[in-house]
Amino acid sequence: MIKVNENFLKMQDSYLFSTIAKKVAKYQEENPDKKIIKLGIGDVTRPIVPKVLEQMHDAVDEVGKSESFRGYGPEQGYEFIRKAIVENDYKKRGINIELDEVFVSDGAKCDCGNIVDLFGTNNKVAITDPVYPVYLDTNIMTGRTGKYDEETGKYEGIIYLPCTAENNFIPELPKEVPDMIYLCFPNNPTGTVLKKEELAKWVKYAKENKSIILFDSAYEAFISEEDVPHSIYEIEGAKEVAIEFRSFSKTAGFTGIRCAYTVVPKELKAYTEDGGEIGLNRLWNRRQCTKFNGVSYITQKGAEAVYSKEGQEEIKENIKYYMENAKIIREGLEEVGITYYGGINSPYVWLKVPNNMKSWDFFDLLLEKANVVGTPGVGFGPSGEGYFRLTAFGNRENTEEAMRRIKNTLQF
Ligand code: MLT
Repeated sequence: MIKVNENFLKMQDSYLFSTIAKKVAKYQEENPDKKIIKLGIGDVTRPIVPKVLEQMHDAVDEVGKSESFRGYGPEQGYEFIRKAIVENDYKKRGINIELDEVFVSDGAKCDCGNIVDLFGTNNKVAITDPVYPVYLDTNIMTGRTGKYDEETGKYEGIIYLPCTAENNFIPELPKEVPDMIYLCFPNNPTGTVLKKEELAKWVKYAKENKSIILFDSAYEAFISEEDVPHSIYEIEGAKEVAIEFRSFSKTAGFTGIRCAYTVVPKELKAYTEDGGEIGLNRLWNRRQCTKFNGVSYITQKGAEAVYSKEGQEEIKENIKYYMENAKIIREGLEEVGITYYGGINSPYVWLKVPNNMKSWDFFDLLLEKANVVGTPGVGFGPSGEGYFRLTAFGNRENTEEAMRRIKNTLQF
């Protein structure tokens, strides 16, 4: 008899963004005349920039000729893109990362999820709360949690690190020591950041406890303030304790094209039950070679163009555009006296739901009265209750219109 992986049965019914999509589709079906504006899922709207397109077109032509046709590429990514990553994302910031520490993939979501393959199921996991659901869900699937507790909204066995206005969205070092620590900064969903000295505390803590930090910096391109680290490797010693996830999705509009990368430094070790040290770079390489056949050549050529002079100028224009949207959202909220966080170093604005409403009630209110979709904070974890996320990734017209409608709805 075929047995199911019963860990799946512990999970909430559906992935957060699928639940929202279903709710919105139902509302639209019942109200076909309403024009709904979606500022929910963080999906980009600006088209791929010309320099990236040009290089992708050239790559298409190349694979159409027998002399330059390409089949399987290296599972870790072509050397040209890994070189561009190492030079631009790291060397320019004074960080030394080697080519074979970079693994190109089809998305940071997949990498964040797949990385759990490397770790024993008896590891203790810590997540910030609220959190990007992928970190938690993939650990539930692989059996690193107990059951879900309806009352607390938490899973047994997980260490939750609350990040709320009360602690300035800075997670405290936990007393119970985790083995795997997920940190995402600039943060999804709160849009807040950790300054260097705060991040350094985590690196020190991980070193002292032989833990690992899984650092998601998918939103680093949106950092506007000087003293905010773009990479965890800006912190001394972080290469011994951290894996970093990066993505072209938000930086260069690749949510549909799919390209990202993960850095697994060679210094990074995990341990066998009897204390033997195992290098994680080798394991991740082994895992990728077995389960992944690389990103398409055309996509990688497009990603390489992101680092060219024109590519950089063009993507910076898009980032500026989104951050202007964030400003429009922030100013709109200010006008109606709504407290908000984020939106300065991140395309997400995290607002405090007015009148002590619950996140999902506020979601329904905005959907029904303003025809605007956002993401209920509690969907990201129990500490997200009473908060709500708006994304700055919409187009200008929709963002302005959404804020007009929100202001009309919230003028209590
Ligand atoms: C989000 O809305 O949180 C993100 O778009 C989801 C993702 O990057 O997968």
